[in-house]
Amino acid sequence: MANSENGKTMLKVEDLNVYYGSIHAIKGISFEVNQGEIVTLIGANGAGKSTTLNTVGGLLKASSGTIEFEGKSIAGTPAHKVVSEGMALCPEGRRIFQRLTVKENLEMGAYTRNKAEADETIEKVYEQFPRLKERFRQIAGTLSGGEQQMLAMGRALMSKPKLIMLDEPSMGLAPILVQQIFDIIESLNKDGTTILLVEQNAQMALSIADRAYVLETGRIVNSGTGDSLLHDDSVRRAYLGG
Ligand SMILES: Nc1ncnc2c1ncn2[C@@H]1O[C@H](COP(=O)(O)OP(=O)(O)O)[C@@H](O)[C@H]1O
Ligand SMILES: [Mg+2]
Repeated sequence: MANSENGKTMLKVEDLNVYYGSIHAIKGISFEVNQGEIVTLIGANGAGKSTTLNTVGGLLKASSGTIEFEGKSIAGTPAHKVVSEGMALCPEGRRIFQRLTVKENLEMGAYTRNKAEADETIEKVYEQFPRLKERFRQIAGTLSGGEQQMLAMGRALMSKPKLIMLDEPSMGLAPILVQQIFDIIESLNKDGTTILLVEQNAQMALSIADRAYVLETGRIVNSGTGDSLLHDDSVRRAYLGG
């Protein structure tokens, strides 16, 4: 580990409960992400992965539990403040601004920062995603699925997050693009960004993750290193096709 800060607890979630009306979607989960790690939450459709990320990101309110980022409580903090603290969420389904250009979408991601900072970061994002640089004037809605995913990730990176939360970045992409997106995630991590990754593609997620948690109907039922879960019989049966 190149950075001496690596390994310190960055995000700590304890006994989190989230409801939608009377539906108890998250049932007392606890997990943590250490600086420099790639951590993945895997689980079937409906397990509560997005609910977890959206709650940490300040889009949903927990009914109880604690969420600490760098030792500071952020439970109940609105999304824009969470971004200023250094955490960015790249939501499921990409949700880019379809009618704006690539560059305008990226600029929207820098709303917590001044113009000079934004200009500097956009160059960095273009280095990470040369495709976006080539297409900076293109209307976002006309990008391919993989390019839209890159744009969504690039936009989240515009706030220069210490921790980026990615909700199903590979969803709906052809296998070759899935591989590219996972390569990009690994390279962002090598550049110093801590990653919390939510995926239904358990095979790919576990193969790049330092650690992983398995979520089933709102509860964490298993955890360990990515490698140990890749070889775990119950995980193999449930998520890796045997
Ligand atoms: N807006 C909502 N209103 C009511 N129930 C919801 C809402 N969003 C999600 N849920 C329910 O919460 C549970 C977890 O959903 P979600 O976090 O989206 O799962 P995942 O991301 O793992 O597929 C599911 O049972 C889902 O039906
Ligand atoms: Mg989801």
